[in-house]
Amino acid sequence: MSGAFRTVWWEEGQVCLIDQRLLPNETRIVRCATVEEVACAIRTMQIRGAPAIGCAAAYGMALAAFSAAHDATGDSARIYACLMEAKALLDAQRPTAVNLSWATRRILERAQRLSDPSPDEVAQRVLEEAHAILAEDLAMCHAIGRHGVALIPPRGHVLTHCNAGGLATAGYGTALAPVRTAHEQGRPIHVYVDETRPFLQGARLTAWELIQERIPLTLITDNMAGYFMKRGDIDCVIVGADRIVANGDVANKIGTYSLAVLARAHRIPFYVAAPSSTIDCSLPNGDAIPIEERSSDEVTMLFGQRIAPEGVIAAHPAFDVTPADLVTAIITECGVIYPPFAGALQRAGMEHH
Ligand code: MRU
Repeated sequence: MSGAFRTVWWEEGQVCLIDQRLLPNETRIVRCATVEEVACAIRTMQIRGAPAIGCAAAYGMALAAFSAAHDATGDSARIYACLMEAKALLDAQRPTAVNLSWATRRILERAQRLSDPSPDEVAQRVLEEAHAILAEDLAMCHAIGRHGVALIPPRGHVLTHCNAGGLATAGYGTALAPVRTAHEQGRPIHVYVDETRPFLQGARLTAWELIQERIPLTLITDNMAGYFMKRGDIDCVIVGADRIVANGDVANKIGTYSLAVLARAHRIPFYVAAPSSTIDCSLPNGDAIPIEERSSDEVTMLFGQRIAPEGVIAAHPAFDVTPADLVTAIITECGVIYPPFAGALQRAGMEHH
Protein backbone atom coordinates (compact mmCIF):
# COMPACT_ATOMS: atom_id res chain seq x y z
CA MET A 1 0.00 0.00 0.00
CA SER A 2 0.95 3.61 -0.33
CA GLY A 3 2.06 5.35 2.83
CA ALA A 4 4.02 3.89 5.71
CA PHE A 5 1.01 2.69 7.68
CA ARG A 6 -1.62 -0.01 7.65
CA THR A 7 -5.14 0.91 8.73
CA VAL A 8 -6.38 -2.49 9.89
CA TRP A 9 -4.91 -5.99 9.77
CA TRP A 10 -5.07 -9.49 11.29
CA GLU A 11 -2.17 -10.58 13.46
CA GLU A 12 -1.89 -13.66 15.66
CA GLY A 13 -5.62 -14.12 16.00
CA GLN A 14 -6.33 -10.46 16.75
CA VAL A 15 -7.60 -7.48 14.80
CA CYS A 16 -5.05 -4.67 14.86
CA LEU A 17 -5.76 -1.08 13.96
CA ILE A 18 -4.26 2.38 14.32
CA ASP A 19 -6.14 4.36 16.97
CA GLN A 20 -7.29 7.22 14.74
CA ARG A 21 -8.52 9.24 17.70
CA LEU A 22 -4.91 9.84 18.77
CA LEU A 23 -3.49 10.86 15.39
CA PRO A 24 -1.54 12.93 14.49
CA ASN A 25 0.09 13.25 17.91
CA GLU A 26 0.47 9.56 18.67
CA THR A 27 0.54 6.42 16.53
CA ARG A 28 -0.83 3.73 18.82
CA ILE A 29 -1.91 0.27 17.72
CA VAL A 30 -5.11 -1.15 19.23
CA ARG A 31 -5.48 -4.94 19.38
CA CYS A 32 -9.00 -6.35 19.49
CA ALA A 33 -9.39 -9.94 20.72
CA THR A 34 -13.20 -10.12 20.61
CA VAL A 35 -15.96 -8.99 18.28
CA GLU A 36 -17.21 -6.75 21.09
CA GLU A 37 -13.87 -4.94 21.12
CA VAL A 38 -14.06 -4.43 17.37
CA ALA A 39 -17.60 -3.07 17.73
CA CYS A 40 -16.38 -0.67 20.40
CA ALA A 41 -13.44 0.47 18.21
CA ILE A 42 -15.90 1.24 15.41
CA ARG A 43 -18.37 3.08 17.64
CA THR A 44 -15.72 5.20 19.35
CA MET A 45 -14.06 5.93 15.98
CA GLN A 46 -10.71 4.40 16.81
CA ILE A 47 -11.28 3.20 13.28
CA ARG A 48 -13.55 5.18 10.93
CA GLY A 49 -14.18 5.77 7.24
CA ALA A 50 -16.71 3.67 5.37
CA PRO A 51 -14.45 1.05 3.70
CA ALA A 52 -12.17 0.79 6.75
CA ILE A 53 -15.01 0.00 9.14
CA GLY A 54 -16.22 -2.61 6.62
CA CYS A 55 -12.79 -4.28 6.72
CA ALA A 56 -12.63 -4.09 10.52
CA ALA A 57 -16.13 -5.56 10.80
CA ALA A 58 -15.18 -8.43 8.48
CA TYR A 59 -12.30 -9.29 10.79
CA GLY A 60 -14.64 -8.88 13.76
CA MET A 61 -16.81 -11.57 12.20
CA ALA A 62 -13.70 -13.78 12.00
CA LEU A 63 -13.07 -13.27 15.71
CA ALA A 64 -16.67 -14.30 16.42
CA ALA A 65 -16.29 -17.41 14.25
CA PHE A 66 -13.05 -18.54 15.89
CA SER A 67 -14.45 -17.95 19.33
CA ALA A 68 -17.55 -20.06 18.54
CA ALA A 69 -15.39 -22.78 16.93
CA HIS A 70 -13.22 -23.03 20.04
CA ASP A 71 -16.24 -23.26 22.26
CA ALA A 72 -16.59 -26.90 23.38
CA THR A 73 -20.18 -27.03 22.14
CA GLY A 74 -19.28 -25.35 18.84
CA ASP A 75 -21.00 -27.05 15.95
CA SER A 76 -21.59 -25.26 12.66
CA ALA A 77 -25.21 -24.34 13.54
CA ARG A 78 -23.92 -22.61 16.65
CA ILE A 79 -21.31 -20.76 14.60
CA TYR A 80 -23.93 -19.47 12.18
CA ALA A 81 -26.01 -18.24 15.13
CA CYS A 82 -22.93 -16.49 16.58
CA LEU A 83 -22.13 -14.93 13.21
CA MET A 84 -25.66 -13.56 12.94
CA GLU A 85 -25.37 -12.09 16.42
CA ALA A 86 -21.98 -10.61 15.57
CA LYS A 87 -23.39 -9.07 12.38
CA ALA A 88 -26.26 -7.44 14.29
CA LEU A 89 -23.85 -6.06 16.87
CA LEU A 90 -21.39 -4.67 14.31
CA ASP A 91 -24.02 -3.22 11.95
CA ALA A 92 -25.63 -1.30 14.81
CA GLN A 93 -22.49 0.68 15.60
CA ARG A 94 -22.60 3.11 12.67
CA PRO A 95 -25.75 3.19 10.54
CA THR A 96 -24.87 5.50 7.63
CA ALA A 97 -21.89 3.81 5.96
CA VAL A 98 -23.31 0.86 4.02
CA ASN A 99 -19.87 -0.78 3.70
CA LEU A 100 -20.27 -2.04 7.26
CA SER A 101 -23.41 -4.13 6.71
CA TRP A 102 -22.22 -4.99 3.20
CA ALA A 103 -19.05 -6.59 4.61
CA THR A 104 -20.78 -8.48 7.42
CA ARG A 105 -23.42 -9.79 5.01
CA ARG A 106 -20.75 -10.95 2.58
CA ILE A 107 -19.00 -12.83 5.40
CA LEU A 108 -22.24 -14.42 6.60
CA GLU A 109 -23.19 -15.52 3.09
CA ARG A 110 -19.73 -17.02 2.57
CA ALA A 111 -20.16 -19.10 5.72
CA GLN A 112 -23.66 -20.17 4.76
CA ARG A 113 -22.53 -21.39 1.33
CA LEU A 114 -20.30 -24.08 2.88
CA SER A 115 -21.78 -27.54 2.81
CA ASP A 116 -21.51 -29.51 6.03
CA PRO A 117 -18.33 -27.79 7.24
CA SER A 118 -16.48 -28.39 10.50
CA PRO A 119 -16.51 -25.45 12.93
CA ASP A 120 -12.82 -24.81 12.21
CA GLU A 121 -13.47 -24.76 8.50
CA VAL A 122 -16.19 -22.12 8.88
CA ALA A 123 -13.83 -19.94 10.89
CA GLN A 124 -10.99 -20.39 8.38
CA ARG A 125 -13.21 -19.54 5.40
CA VAL A 126 -14.58 -16.48 7.21
CA LEU A 127 -11.04 -15.26 7.84
CA GLU A 128 -10.11 -15.85 4.20
CA GLU A 129 -13.13 -13.82 3.12
CA ALA A 130 -12.13 -10.98 5.44
CA HIS A 131 -8.63 -11.00 3.91
CA ALA A 132 -10.25 -10.91 0.45
CA ILE A 133 -12.41 -7.91 1.40
CA LEU A 134 -9.30 -6.03 2.57
CA ALA A 135 -7.28 -6.93 -0.55
CA GLU A 136 -10.16 -6.03 -2.88
CA ASP A 137 -10.67 -2.70 -1.14
CA LEU A 138 -7.03 -1.79 -1.68
CA ALA A 139 -7.24 -2.81 -5.35
CA MET A 140 -10.46 -0.78 -5.81
CA CYS A 141 -8.81 2.30 -4.32
CA HIS A 142 -5.89 2.03 -6.77
CA ALA A 143 -8.36 1.67 -9.66
CA ILE A 144 -10.24 4.77 -8.44
CA GLY A 145 -6.91 6.59 -8.55
CA ARG A 146 -6.26 5.49 -12.14
CA HIS A 147 -9.75 6.53 -13.31
CA GLY A 148 -9.94 9.73 -11.27
CA VAL A 149 -6.55 11.19 -12.11
CA ALA A 150 -7.76 12.22 -15.57
CA LEU A 151 -10.38 14.48 -13.96
CA ILE A 152 -7.88 16.60 -12.07
CA PRO A 153 -7.35 19.87 -13.97
CA PRO A 154 -3.77 20.74 -15.05
CA ARG A 155 -3.02 23.13 -12.18
CA GLY A 156 -4.21 20.45 -9.73
CA HIS A 157 -5.84 22.47 -6.95
CA VAL A 158 -8.20 19.99 -5.27
CA LEU A 159 -10.43 20.66 -2.26
CA THR A 160 -11.36 17.67 -0.07
CA HIS A 161 -13.44 17.19 3.03
CA CYS A 162 -13.08 14.81 5.98
CA ASN A 163 -10.64 11.94 5.48
CA ALA A 164 -11.21 9.68 2.52
CA GLY A 165 -7.59 8.59 2.44
CA GLY A 166 -5.66 5.46 3.33
CA LEU A 167 -6.86 5.65 6.93
CA ALA A 168 -10.50 5.48 5.81
CA THR A 169 -9.89 2.41 3.62
CA ALA A 170 -7.63 -0.63 3.44
CA GLY A 171 -5.08 1.85 2.07
CA TYR A 172 -4.55 4.49 -0.65
CA GLY A 173 -7.98 6.03 -0.12
CA THR A 174 -10.90 7.00 -2.33
CA ALA A 175 -11.01 10.81 -2.66
CA LEU A 176 -7.26 10.91 -2.08
CA ALA A 177 -6.57 8.14 -4.61
CA PRO A 178 -6.63 10.41 -7.71
CA VAL A 179 -4.53 12.92 -5.76
CA ARG A 180 -1.95 10.25 -4.88
CA THR A 181 -1.88 8.94 -8.44
CA ALA A 182 -1.36 12.47 -9.82
CA HIS A 183 1.48 12.98 -7.35
CA GLU A 184 3.06 9.62 -8.27
CA GLN A 185 2.88 10.66 -11.93
CA GLY A 186 4.77 13.84 -11.12
CA ARG A 187 1.82 16.07 -11.95
CA PRO A 188 1.33 19.33 -10.06
CA ILE A 189 -1.09 18.86 -7.18
CA HIS A 190 -2.13 20.96 -4.20
CA VAL A 191 -4.81 19.85 -1.75
CA TYR A 192 -7.02 22.24 0.20
CA VAL A 193 -7.98 20.23 3.27
CA ASP A 194 -11.17 21.14 5.13
CA GLU A 195 -10.47 20.67 8.83
CA THR A 196 -13.91 18.97 9.18
CA ARG A 197 -15.51 19.93 12.45
CA PRO A 198 -16.38 18.49 14.86
CA PHE A 199 -14.12 15.43 14.71
CA LEU A 200 -11.35 17.09 12.70
CA GLN A 201 -10.69 14.21 10.34
CA GLY A 202 -9.29 16.69 7.80
CA ALA A 203 -6.94 18.53 10.14
CA ARG A 204 -5.80 15.44 12.03
CA LEU A 205 -5.91 12.61 9.47
CA THR A 206 -5.91 13.92 5.89
CA ALA A 207 -3.20 16.46 6.70
CA TRP A 208 -1.17 13.69 8.42
CA GLU A 209 -1.40 11.43 5.38
CA LEU A 210 -0.51 14.14 2.88
CA ILE A 211 2.44 15.36 4.94
CA GLN A 212 3.76 11.78 5.10
CA GLU A 213 3.61 11.56 1.32
CA ARG A 214 5.00 15.06 0.82
CA ILE A 215 1.90 16.09 -1.14
CA PRO A 216 1.51 19.88 -0.89
CA LEU A 217 -1.52 21.00 1.11
CA THR A 218 -3.20 23.96 2.71
CA LEU A 219 -5.35 23.31 5.75
CA ILE A 220 -8.47 25.49 5.93
CA THR A 221 -11.38 25.68 8.35
CA ASP A 222 -14.67 24.50 6.91
CA ASN A 223 -16.08 28.01 6.61
CA MET A 224 -13.20 29.16 4.36
CA ALA A 225 -14.14 26.99 1.36
CA GLY A 226 -16.36 29.62 -0.31
CA TYR A 227 -13.67 32.28 0.09
CA PHE A 228 -11.08 30.18 -1.73
CA MET A 229 -13.54 29.10 -4.42
CA LYS A 230 -14.52 32.70 -5.12
CA ARG A 231 -10.85 33.68 -5.48
CA GLY A 232 -10.45 30.97 -8.14
CA ASP A 233 -8.07 28.93 -6.00
CA ILE A 234 -9.98 25.63 -6.27
CA ASP A 235 -10.09 23.67 -9.56
CA CYS A 236 -12.26 20.79 -8.37
CA VAL A 237 -13.69 19.18 -5.26
CA ILE A 238 -13.22 15.46 -4.59
CA VAL A 239 -14.92 13.80 -1.61
CA GLY A 240 -15.57 10.23 -0.52
CA ALA A 241 -18.95 8.67 0.30
CA ASP A 242 -20.57 6.59 2.99
CA ARG A 243 -23.50 5.52 0.86
CA ILE A 244 -24.53 6.23 -2.72
CA VAL A 245 -28.14 5.28 -3.46
CA ALA A 246 -30.00 4.33 -6.65
CA ASN A 247 -30.63 7.87 -7.98
CA GLY A 248 -27.06 9.04 -7.28
CA ASP A 249 -27.71 10.91 -4.01
CA VAL A 250 -24.61 10.71 -1.81
CA ALA A 251 -24.29 10.52 1.97
CA ASN A 252 -20.93 11.74 3.22
CA LYS A 253 -19.44 13.61 6.16
CA ILE A 254 -21.50 16.52 7.45
CA GLY A 255 -20.54 19.63 5.48
CA THR A 256 -20.25 17.83 2.14
CA TYR A 257 -23.64 19.15 1.00
CA SER A 258 -22.61 22.75 1.72
CA LEU A 259 -19.45 22.24 -0.31
CA ALA A 260 -21.46 20.86 -3.25
CA VAL A 261 -23.76 23.91 -3.19
CA LEU A 262 -20.73 26.22 -3.08
CA ALA A 263 -19.05 24.31 -5.91
CA ARG A 264 -22.18 24.65 -8.07
CA ALA A 265 -22.39 28.38 -7.33
CA HIS A 266 -18.78 28.80 -8.46
CA ARG A 267 -19.05 26.38 -11.42
CA ILE A 268 -16.41 24.08 -9.97
CA PRO A 269 -16.67 20.33 -10.70
CA PHE A 270 -17.77 18.28 -7.69
CA TYR A 271 -16.58 14.65 -7.77
CA VAL A 272 -17.44 11.75 -5.47
CA ALA A 273 -14.96 8.86 -5.29
CA ALA A 274 -16.13 5.53 -3.86
CA PRO A 275 -15.80 1.78 -4.40
CA SER A 276 -18.84 -0.21 -5.49
CA SER A 277 -19.17 -1.55 -1.91
CA THR A 278 -20.48 1.95 -1.06
CA ILE A 279 -23.30 1.75 -3.62
CA ASP A 280 -26.69 0.78 -2.20
CA CYS A 281 -29.31 0.53 -4.93
CA SER A 282 -31.84 -0.92 -2.47
CA LEU A 283 -32.64 2.67 -1.43
CA PRO A 284 -34.34 4.86 -4.05
CA ASN A 285 -33.00 8.24 -2.91
CA GLY A 286 -31.14 10.06 -0.17
CA ASP A 287 -34.22 10.61 2.03
CA ALA A 288 -34.09 6.91 2.89
CA ILE A 289 -30.48 6.97 4.15
CA PRO A 290 -30.20 6.67 7.95
CA ILE A 291 -28.16 9.58 9.30
CA GLU A 292 -26.08 8.83 12.36
CA GLU A 293 -26.62 11.29 15.19
CA ARG A 294 -23.55 11.39 17.44
CA SER A 295 -23.10 12.77 20.93
CA SER A 296 -23.40 16.54 21.28
CA ASP A 297 -20.30 16.32 23.49
CA GLU A 298 -18.25 15.98 20.31
CA VAL A 299 -19.48 19.48 19.37
CA THR A 300 -19.34 21.18 22.77
CA MET A 301 -15.98 19.68 23.81
CA LEU A 302 -12.61 19.71 22.09
CA PHE A 303 -9.88 17.37 23.36
CA GLY A 304 -11.60 17.11 26.74
CA GLN A 305 -12.03 20.89 27.07
CA ARG A 306 -15.49 22.44 27.08
CA ILE A 307 -15.77 25.10 24.35
CA ALA A 308 -19.47 26.00 24.73
CA PRO A 309 -21.39 26.99 27.87
CA GLU A 310 -22.76 24.29 30.19
CA GLY A 311 -26.34 23.40 29.35
CA VAL A 312 -26.17 24.42 25.69
CA ILE A 313 -28.05 22.21 23.26
CA ALA A 314 -25.88 21.14 20.32
CA ALA A 315 -26.88 19.07 17.30
CA HIS A 316 -24.56 16.52 15.77
CA PRO A 317 -25.72 14.81 12.59
CA ALA A 318 -22.52 13.08 11.48
CA PHE A 319 -23.45 12.98 7.77
CA ASP A 320 -25.51 14.83 5.21
CA VAL A 321 -26.89 13.97 1.80
CA THR A 322 -25.79 15.69 -1.39
CA PRO A 323 -28.46 15.47 -4.08
CA ALA A 324 -27.35 13.79 -7.29
CA ASP A 325 -27.89 16.92 -9.37
CA LEU A 326 -25.01 18.64 -7.56
CA VAL A 327 -22.60 15.79 -8.37
CA THR A 328 -20.55 16.20 -11.55
CA ALA A 329 -19.40 12.57 -11.66
CA ILE A 330 -18.87 9.52 -9.46
CA ILE A 331 -15.47 7.82 -9.65
CA THR A 332 -15.61 4.07 -8.94
CA GLU A 333 -13.16 1.24 -9.55
CA CYS A 334 -15.18 0.44 -12.70
CA GLY A 335 -14.69 3.89 -14.21
CA VAL A 336 -16.16 7.39 -14.08
CA ILE A 337 -19.96 7.58 -14.02
CA TYR A 338 -21.67 10.73 -15.33
CA PRO A 339 -25.34 11.71 -14.92
CA PRO A 340 -27.88 10.29 -15.24
CA PHE A 341 -26.42 7.95 -12.64
CA ALA A 342 -29.16 5.36 -12.12
CA GLY A 343 -28.34 2.71 -14.72
CA ALA A 344 -24.56 2.80 -14.30
CA LEU A 345 -24.84 2.74 -10.50
CA GLN A 346 -27.09 -0.30 -10.73
CA ARG A 347 -24.46 -2.10 -12.82
CA ALA A 348 -21.53 -1.03 -10.61
CA GLY A 349 -23.43 -1.90 -7.43
CA MET A 350 -24.34 -5.32 -8.74
CA GLU A 351 -20.66 -6.21 -8.92
CA HIS A 352 -20.68 -6.24 -5.16
CA HIS A 353 -24.18 -6.56 -3.75
O1 MRU B 1 -17.37 9.66 10.54
P1 MRU B 1 -16.31 9.14 9.62
O2 MRU B 1 -14.96 9.70 9.89
O3 MRU B 1 -16.31 7.63 9.56
O4 MRU B 1 -16.75 9.67 8.20
C1 MRU B 1 -15.97 9.38 7.09
C2 MRU B 1 -16.44 9.99 5.84
O5 MRU B 1 -17.44 10.67 5.78
C3 MRU B 1 -15.65 9.67 4.61
O6 MRU B 1 -15.66 10.73 3.70
C4 MRU B 1 -16.30 8.45 3.93
O7 MRU B 1 -16.42 7.41 4.85
C5 MRU B 1 -15.52 7.98 2.78
S1 MRU B 1 -14.04 7.22 3.30
C6 MRU B 1 -13.22 6.56 2.01
